[in-house]
Amino acid sequence: MCGIVGFTGRREASPILLEGLRRLEYRGYDSAGMVTGTGNELHLRKKAGRLAELAKHLAVHPAPGCHGISHTRWATHGGATDRNSHPHMNAANDIALVHNGVIENFAALKQQLQSAGVLFRSDTDTEVLAHLISHYYQGDLTAAVRQALALVKGTYGVAVMAKAEPGLIVGARLGSPLVVGVGEDGTYLASDANALAGYADKVVYLTDRQLCALTETDWEVRDQDLSPVSVSVSDIAAFLGEGDAERGDFPHYMLKEIYEQPETLANAMRGRLESDSATAHFGGLNLGAQQLRQIDRVIMTACGTSYHAAMVGEYLFEELARVPVEVEYASEFRYRNPPMDRSTVVLALTQSGETADTLAALRESKRMGHTTLAICNAVASSIAREADGGVYLHAGPEIGVASTKAFTSQVCVLTMLALYLGRTRHLSSTQGQKIIDDLHALPEMVRKALECHDRVKEVAAKYADAKNVLYLGRQYLYPVALEGALKLKEISYIHAEGYPAAEMKHGPIALVDENTPSVFLVPRGNVFDKVMSNMQEIKARGGPVIAVASEGDREVSAVADDVIPIPDVSEYLQPIVTAIPLQLLAYEIAVLCGCDVDKPRNLAKSVTVE
Ligand code: AGP
Repeated sequence: MCGIVGFTGRREASPILLEGLRRLEYRGYDSAGMVTGTGNELHLRKKAGRLAELAKHLAVHPAPGCHGISHTRWATHGGATDRNSHPHMNAANDIALVHNGVIENFAALKQQLQSAGVLFRSDTDTEVLAHLISHYYQGDLTAAVRQALALVKGTYGVAVMAKAEPGLIVGARLGSPLVVGVGEDGTYLASDANALAGYADKVVYLTDRQLCALTETDWEVRDQDLSPVSVSVSDIAAFLGEGDAERGDFPHYMLKEIYEQPETLANAMRGRLESDSATAHFGGLNLGAQQLRQIDRVIMTACGTSYHAAMVGEYLFEELARVPVEVEYASEFRYRNPPMDRSTVVLALTQSGETADTLAALRESKRMGHTTLAICNAVASSIAREADGGVYLHAGPEIGVASTKAFTSQVCVLTMLALYLGRTRHLSSTQGQKIIDDLHALPEMVRKALECHDRVKEVAAKYADAKNVLYLGRQYLYPVALEGALKLKEISYIHAEGYPAAEMKHGPIALVDENTPSVFLVPRGNVFDKVMSNMQEIKARGGPVIAVASEGDREVSAVADDVIPIPDVSEYLQPIVTAIPLQLLAYEIAVLCGCDVDKPRNLAKSVTVE
């Protein structure tokens, strides 16, 4: 996801902009840049590659001035090159802008501008905006930005400056977050409040189609007709990710976040489990017991790892609450038109709360009049704010692009939600109390699961040169097999596929040979014997078998080539506990492969483009 940071005030802007971008770089990007203003001069500095490249460039070519805008770009249109990085400027180099989002009709707009003689210097959609604003500019930047954006189809979060209006920054949003920050030294604009921590004291979140105008000492928000609107000003502390986003003495954010999971699971449960009524409760669901009882179907929609968490949720809701669930990829769901009646609830799962496909699916559901809920980590994110109700993960900022603690917290929240729903239906207080007791013991079980790390390192060393890996599990653990495969793919670039363990007989087993390891999720449970049979089928074809199994399980050790032990937990908590060794396995293999674990190639932490 691209990042925007702007500042106008009484301090040099460049260091503030660079530090703000540094806090956003975990989201994934491939170039960075800034423009600052002094008097009536604009200073443009931008470089492909990591932020360090821009910092090196600035050391030689400083960007002076007390106001500026900056950007980290995750390429959509046009490669990751100096000329495609933001900011982009008009032909006269007196208007500059940075942009998050996608201009879907940029080709038509570009053609019109080129027909009018405009020469383009990049392959990006964003540059169209710079020329459009220039076309409408007659001394009022806010008005020119509004007129240009009125022609745009797509999504945007923009920050714009003009040479003729020193100290002014104009912002606007549609489908891509933008927040105004107010501090002692000036006013700020950013795509994420975390970039402003320590600088701004107050924040104002723009909503879609609003614009803002910032000066060194003042700010205002207007609607799309440029009428001033009153907005709520909040303390920034309420929106900063919990827990420190610093890496501590871990070599990577991802490993820190894997080891944080006992604490993040405790945070997810804190204050939500009620032993006296043997149920769970949530402050932000905005649905009472009566309304919950009337829910007769849930559609869960998400992307990536969150989709895998939703798949676990399907098993949980059906077993614990007897509520039918469908799980849909958000990118598919938003274009389908499934028959849904008024008692169907749509539940979006998202760590960032900004994933464009999930946001679009949520909005489509709201347009159809359905109750929408969200399970989300990022406080005040677009999805969190637009859903009718929801549950925050309280997992703290997840910096590693590969999601780990968010996955286990999502599954934990889904377990509590299933308990809550179940207790409004058929679950007895005794059954409810058993689930609560298991949940209370969960952080300690995860702490025990983390003790497999040394064993995982041995397994990683043995299989790090594999070119293909199968992940196999049944029931609750089939989604975890998918998640384990995704973890390995996205950080080590090794091809991996997850399947229901029985399904590999229907084709994928043809892939099995002595160079294709299969990771089996085979803790004790009601399908243990079936999975053991599947393991034998792989062994019979010479395929190496890595088993994630209940500690001390001799039956598994007799068959598998390598065993990674985990503590025994109830089956509905096995998805969380079995995820831990798979996260560690992907991490250790990626490290051995020399990959950039926290910022894998081609990936962004939050995909805000469709
Ligand atoms: C997970 O490791 C990936 N980074 C990716 O699949 C991610 O889960 C997906 O993009 C959804 O993101 P969200 O949870 O922020 O919506």
